[in-house]
Amino acid sequence: MKSTLKFVLDFKIIEIDFSKQKELKTTTTVLNYLRSFPHHKGVKEGCAEGDCGACTVVIAEVNDENKLVYKAVDSCLVFLPMIHGKQLITIENLAVIENKQTKLHPVQQAMLETNGSQCGYCTPGIVMSLFGLYKNHNNPSREAVEEALTGNLCRCTGYQPIIEAAQKACIHNGNDHFSERENEVISLLKRINENEETLILKSKKQKYFKPFTLAEALKIREENPEAIIINGSTDIALRQTKKNEILYEIIDLSGIDELKKVSEDDNNYCFGSGLTLEQLRQYSNDKLPALFKILNVFGSLQIRNIATIGGNVGSASPIGDTLPVLFAHNAMIKVMSQLSERTMSIDDFIKGYRQTDIRNNELITGIIVPKNNNSYLIESYKVSKRKHLDISTVIGAFKLHLNNETVSEIVIAYGGMAATTKRAVKTENFLTAKKWSRENVEQAMDILSGEFTPLSDARSEAEFRTAAARNILLKFYLDTVQKS
Ligand SMILES: Cc1cc2nc3c(=O)[nH]c(=O)nc-3n(C[C@H](O)[C@H](O)[C@H](O)COP(=O)(O)OP(=O)(O)OC[C@H]3O[C@@H](n4cnc5c(N)ncnc54)[C@H](O)[C@@H]3O)c2cc1C
Ligand code: FES
Ligand code: FES
Repeated sequence: MKSTLKFVLDFKIIEIDFSKQKELKTTTTVLNYLRSFPHHKGVKEGCAEGDCGACTVVIAEVNDENKLVYKAVDSCLVFLPMIHGKQLITIENLAVIENKQTKLHPVQQAMLETNGSQCGYCTPGIVMSLFGLYKNHNNPSREAVEEALTGNLCRCTGYQPIIEAAQKACIHNGNDHFSERENEVISLLKRINENEETLILKSKKQKYFKPFTLAEALKIREENPEAIIINGSTDIALRQTKKNEILYEIIDLSGIDELKKVSEDDNNYCFGSGLTLEQLRQYSNDKLPALFKILNVFGSLQIRNIATIGGNVGSASPIGDTLPVLFAHNAMIKVMSQLSERTMSIDDFIKGYRQTDIRNNELITGIIVPKNNNSYLIESYKVSKRKHLDISTVIGAFKLHLNNETVSEIVIAYGGMAATTKRAVKTENFLTAKKWSRENVEQAMDILSGEFTPLSDARSEAEFRTAAARNILLKFYLDTVQKS
């Protein structure tokens, strides 16, 4: 058992012993930690809920190929122990002093040259997102640039100069003073990570467990059934940052590599519950197009870089974006306790409003998605007020098998229409064994309207949700006709 948190900042190992450090809680966010320093106040708080990107920093970690990978994240949602064993890079680290002169990083220099900053409040966050882009892309497409900036709001510039700065700067294959010091950082991180003992951190009223193996996590879960499980914490952190809740006991799974694996056999893909949504987005590109489509409009890059598939399933939100798609794929959820393992369909796993079938000694360990092998048409549609960085008003996912233009199997699943993700069973039954025709689909749309009684809320009126759900079904029909 270890009780000291360690990470790299300013190319040095920082150690935090919470028992001696009274100003910090185990759930102090990276944002608030940095803001407490005299020389790291460049990072800003705008919203404290992952929406504005003013707090963006970059985290670097060692991958399987012994290279550093750089990820932009919203520091307002990251608890300090989540960066144990990683390098934290802030805006203050980008420029270097050479011959007594300040030499800006290429992304800073380009922002200066294109007038990419006006009032400047968003600028440190934007520069850090551009730095993440710089380290991951050479000559990025306009799409990749926009993708990197989706999570950063700027009220002043209109974005064009920032996009130009990105295109101007990202032409150096990621080379900079960080590349020159990569080996040095890797050896510091390896020194921290060589010992896989669980971190047990305690601050006033709070206990924070950070295990590094699944076996250890299951043991801690068994012994602490009331503890809150976190993975990316993009849902849970808001309970602290927006509702001022004290999170008394936390089990943080983000350090468990076993839960981040992907495997596949002839029939299934198996995703570890700790796989980030950005890793899953990249993996699903040509394999699971309906999932890929949804993940392209899921949150922002900063959110997807830490949010996990296990967290999306575990939150059981009625507007959880991956859930209808997983329903359409007839996905299975794997859960484990210390002594047993269960696998159940996602339909059975989601029990009610933000409720799952998980027991208080279990963890979600994997999501199994059957391979389509091209025999089904599977599609997904997200309706939201904004295309990016917005929660769904309605989300629909469909799976269809036709036999001589007759429906032999159909799954219709919606989010945003009930307290949980829900299948439109009556509509499915009506369409099964019928000709896949516009006439039948239009009749099915009326059945669908009677199957759900959605809520009116800040996002939408109930009538709009019903109309959107109906129209998505019609859109699916039209798309299938166009494809065939
Ligand atoms: C700015 C912003 C934008 C967002 N945009 C979207 C969006 O477009 N679409 C969308 O669907 N969601 C969105 N979300 C919500 C959130 O990002 C997702 O639900 C995300 O998938 C949660 O994953 P996580 O790893 O961060 O979960 P966490 O916050 O760590 O956990 C979420 C829940 O799952 C449980 N849990 C996590 N892992 C496990 C496990 N292994 N075993 C058992 N229980 C577990 C936790 O206890 C908790 O109840 C957004 C959130 C923010 C802040
Ligand atoms: S402060 Fe707005 S995303 Fe973190
Ligand atoms: S420069 Fe003012 S908010 Fe972006």
